[in-house]
Amino acid sequence: MASPLLKVGFYRAACPSAEAIGCDASVLLDSTPGKPAEKDHPANNPSLRGFEVIDEAKAQIEARCPKTVSCSDIIAFAARDSGFKVGGINYAVPAGSRDGHVSLSDDVAQNLPPPFFNAKQLEDNFSRKGLSRDEMVTLSGAHSIGVSHCSSFSNRLYSFNATHPQDPSMDPKYV
Ligand code: HEM
Repeated sequence: MASPLLKVGFYRAACPSAEAIGCDASVLLDSTPGKPAEKDHPANNPSLRGFEVIDEAKAQIEARCPKTVSCSDIIAFAARDSGFKVGGINYAVPAGSRDGHVSLSDDVAQNLPPPFFNAKQLEDNFSRKGLSRDEMVTLSGAHSIGVSHCSSFSNRLYSFNATHPQDPSMDPKYV
C-alpha cells in the first residue's frame, strides 16, 4: 500500500510540470546517421517492441485531432489499456506530457537498470528518479506480462557460479 504521506497531485502546487515532463517518448525516436538513439542501445534493441502499435494509434489520432496528443501520452494510455485487457486492472492516467525531440543512446546505460542489479542497486536507481521502493515494486508488476530473452536471466538458472549452477537466492520452485 502507498504511504499515507503520499498523495496524487503532490507536486501540483510546488512543481506543476513535474508529471507533464515525466516521460517524453524519446525511446520512439529513430537513430540518425552517426547519432544512435535510445531505441538502438543494446538494452533496448532487440528487446523493446510494439513500436508499430504506437505508430498506428498516433496515425489514427492525428487523423482526428492533428498535432494535439503526444506520443508520450499515447504510450501511457496504451499501457493502461493493455493492463485492463490482460489483467482487468484500471487506473487514471495524468495526461499532458509533451514529446521530446532528442534521443541519445549514451543516456541509456546511466538510467536504465540492468537485469543483474540487486535490490539495493534497484532502489538507488529508482530513488534517483524520485521513485520510492513501494513505487518500484508496483512498477515492476509490468513484468507480469511480456517476454524476456533467455540471455537476460539464464546465467541464474544454469551457470551462476562454480559451487551453485543455480542462483541460491532464488526460490527453487521459481527456478
Ligand atoms: C526494476 C527495474 C527493471 C529492470 C531491471 C528491468 C529489466 C527488464 C528486462 C531484463 C527485460 C527483458 C528484456 C529482454 O530480455 O529482452 C524486461 C522486459 C520488460 N520490462 Fe522491464 N525492467 C525494469 C523495470 C520495468 C518497469 C518500471 C516497466 C514498466 C512499468 C517495465 C516493463 C517491461 C516490459 C513490459 C517488458 C516486456 C517487454 C516485452 O514483452 O517485449 N520494466 N525488463
